Amino acid sequence: MTKSGETVVSGPGDALWYKDAVIYEVPVKAFFDSDNDGIGDLRGLISKLDYIKDLGANTVWLLPFYPSPMRDDGYDISDYRNIAPEYGTRADFRLLVRELHHRDMRVITELVLNHTSDAHAWFQAARRAPHGSVKRDYYVWSDDDKKYAGTRRIFSDTESSNWTWDPVAGAYFWHRFFSHQPDLNFDNPHMLQAVLRNMRFWLDMGVDGFRLDAVAYLCEREGTSNENLPETHAVLRRLRAELDRHYVGRMLLAEANQWPEDVREYFGESDECHMAYHFPLMPRIYMAVASEDRHPVVEILRQTPEIPASCQWATFLRNHDELTLEKVTDRERDYLYNAYAADPRARLNLGIRRRLAPLMENDRRKIELMTVLLMTLPGSPVIYYGDEIGMGDNIYLGDRNGVRTPMQWSPDRNGGFSRADPQQLCLPVNTDAVYGAQTVNVESQLRSPSSLLNWMKRLIAVRNAHRAFGRGSLVLIEPGNRKILAYLREYLDETILCVVNLSRTPQAVEIDLSRYAKRVPVELTARTAFPPVRDTPYFLTMPGYGFFLFRLSDESGVPEWREERVPRVELQTLVMPDGWATLFGATSGSNRVRQALADRTRAQWKREVLTSFLASRRWFETSGNRSPVIEILEHAEWEVGGRSWLLALLSVTDGGEKARECFLPMSIDWGDTDDIQSGALRPWALAYVRQQDRVGLLYEAFGDDAFCHALVAAMAVGVELPFAGGTLRLQCNAGVSLSGDDAAGPIRRLLAQRNDIGIFFGSTLYLKIYPAPTAGVSADVELGRVQSEVAPYASVPAIVGTLALERANGATTVLGVLQRVVENQGDCWDYTIEYLERHFDDHAQSATLDQDTSGPGMDVHAQYCLLAGRIGQRTAEMHLALAAAGEGAALATEAVTAPDVEAWTLQAVTELDQVLAHIRVQGQRHTAVDLKARGGQQK
Ligand code: NOJ
Repeated sequence: MTKSGETVVSGPGDALWYKDAVIYEVPVKAFFDSDNDGIGDLRGLISKLDYIKDLGANTVWLLPFYPSPMRDDGYDISDYRNIAPEYGTRADFRLLVRELHHRDMRVITELVLNHTSDAHAWFQAARRAPHGSVKRDYYVWSDDDKKYAGTRRIFSDTESSNWTWDPVAGAYFWHRFFSHQPDLNFDNPHMLQAVLRNMRFWLDMGVDGFRLDAVAYLCEREGTSNENLPETHAVLRRLRAELDRHYVGRMLLAEANQWPEDVREYFGESDECHMAYHFPLMPRIYMAVASEDRHPVVEILRQTPEIPASCQWATFLRNHDELTLEKVTDRERDYLYNAYAADPRARLNLGIRRRLAPLMENDRRKIELMTVLLMTLPGSPVIYYGDEIGMGDNIYLGDRNGVRTPMQWSPDRNGGFSRADPQQLCLPVNTDAVYGAQTVNVESQLRSPSSLLNWMKRLIAVRNAHRAFGRGSLVLIEPGNRKILAYLREYLDETILCVVNLSRTPQAVEIDLSRYAKRVPVELTARTAFPPVRDTPYFLTMPGYGFFLFRLSDESGVPEWREERVPRVELQTLVMPDGWATLFGATSGSNRVRQALADRTRAQWKREVLTSFLASRRWFETSGNRSPVIEILEHAEWEVGGRSWLLALLSVTDGGEKARECFLPMSIDWGDTDDIQSGALRPWALAYVRQQDRVGLLYEAFGDDAFCHALVAAMAVGVELPFAGGTLRLQCNAGVSLSGDDAAGPIRRLLAQRNDIGIFFGSTLYLKIYPAPTAGVSADVELGRVQSEVAPYASVPAIVGTLALERANGATTVLGVLQRVVENQGDCWDYTIEYLERHFDDHAQSATLDQDTSGPGMDVHAQYCLLAGRIGQRTAEMHLALAAAGEGAALATEAVTAPDVEAWTLQAVTELDQVLAHIRVQGQRHTAVDLKARGGQQK
């Protein structure tokens, strides 16, 4: 806030930033020691901000760093407005905030409202102040220790009462935690004013949010449990009003370890806290994994009330305290103790003082599974420092210190945390064989692509690329197999399906996704497309503790392998008593029953068989949900060497659009249908056919080797067929020598092309078919003709033959071209997309990758640039060849002017800027997906 009282906005951007936050919890004391005195400090933390950013976290939550006797690790504050000298100075803090904001990160600090240290000046004054005075009433006093008898003790292992006698005051003071932490008295308006001033002090220092410690216990009233009192909520509303009056984009996070309906109250009507920890969910995640049953998680999520639109849960697995089991039933607590804390030393108060990795018995699959839940269930995730590398704990240290040991940066002395003498450290570094710094440390894990740390980075990158995780709704799906937890996260037009196997054994699951029929699940960590969803349950098999995160995509292509391996819908059987003739009404005899049967077959063929066949073709894109109307414009039988094929020209009208034409040659294989079912013809199949007791397969003839060879042979000699009121002409280009033998090599097909069907004949010829052709000049044919006939150029595949339909009015539609194959190693576009994906993936693992591998002046992309240069050279050579042809208006040379070059440069730079901006906004992984999609359009 400024002195004038105007509103102050923290860092840049969205006021709801906390909804997309990935929070990293840091103890300054144990993170990094910059001055080697054995205690971590603010400058040490600043030097590690890039590490946190690189992990993918965008918000840092700082544990208390204020002056303190340190009897509750800093939650016993003796001066609210200063920095503990061992951690640094206010200037260091300001620098920290600046450095965070500079990195587009936020900072949350502790606002400990409920209590102070007994060393705080307020308490020292209060215990000496007269009864009933403002100063004395900063705290809660009593002449006896009998008041508020219905209040539970939180630190039950160390405190026998919530009252402690103060000989100086001659009275008992009230405390919910340690007896050196007197509770503040929120019934005293002067005290509340002082708290508000402290809050504003840190907001003015640039802090983006506060964790409100122990917020459920602020007020006391006789005859209650002294938790969640209406008076406490009134205090929070006061705090929020003060915040909203002067600041924008700041946030309050409630630490209220309560049941869901009670935690809900801390959001108020969007007039209390912006966030609250989901305390009830946390132990139930552990419960679900231990019992291999989703029930505890599903149940608590069902019991979780809706929260206001501007509010957000904070989810967590572990933090600096014991894993609290206060809000579970006695039976559940016993179960969890048995499962996770068999050693009594691991227990503290009503909880378990262990870190995530030891709780998961250091089983990488279980740690990953827990982390996936943390990253995908509703709320903003909080990562406890060190859990990203699987740090262990030390249950032989007192209180909760076992989970607060120094960060393990490297295998060096003191785990790279400090150069001080080991005895001098604030807490001993873990040295045991399994979790010690020699084994578990950042440096080693950064070097290993498969480390937990790098895996975490990839997962967080996935989360950061999809707002549905932070902002989306939750829909629980309950498949029959209870070991599987499945849910949808939906936001705007994005739907993400999360499926988690809570069991150690492999599981199969059928998930009802019929609402999303036709969508293609794209797995988010690998961007792999899975078979499309249908009306029937979606079947998945999962390894023990496995998980899937799928974007249910409606724009992503069908996976390329799918048609070879996954059956399309069940094929129908067409009864064809008169062979091909049945399909066109030319049935023999006048038997009315047979006529009726033939009519039925024709209707079935047009309405069902062709419709579902076309829908399965990648080159056939529908514009609407309505079934297309299909007409047979023309058909002709083509016989060669005892084989016959049916050539059909269809007109397809789809959703009121203009009719499109499709060229569909068909073949019938009267072989054994079992063979057909599993054989190479499956991807081309239209329907089974039956003629008396003969059963066969009707399929697209491009799947038939004999048909493909017949096409080439016909081009070699030149063939004309009367067709569609014109001529179907198969011919080879002038001056080209082509024989049927040129096509002798083994046939290989590319079925998943976007606009065409590709057929290779060995490594000599390539036939490109346009199944949905457009009338008029074909760029492929025109350019190919010039390059092969007028200005031959070796690096461009020569066109040797064409398949074209010449109409009666003279218009020509090219249905296919036959090209010579030029030996190549793939196309540059795909190469570039894959190259970028690889680069971004590597980069996502280590932000410093480029610097690591290249010295000054070295270019990591040198190899790629060489290739790009070669493409430029080849393109120029091609244009020279075209220019040399020097004829035809379309290909005639044009002078390039300086303004042309300027405009092209501007266009290239603008596009580059747009792409770079896109990369920055969307995150690297997401962009790689986009690039692929854009590639499809621009290619
Ligand atoms: C909650 C904190 O998380 C915990 O560490 C502390 O001991 C209590 N508040 C009391 O300050």
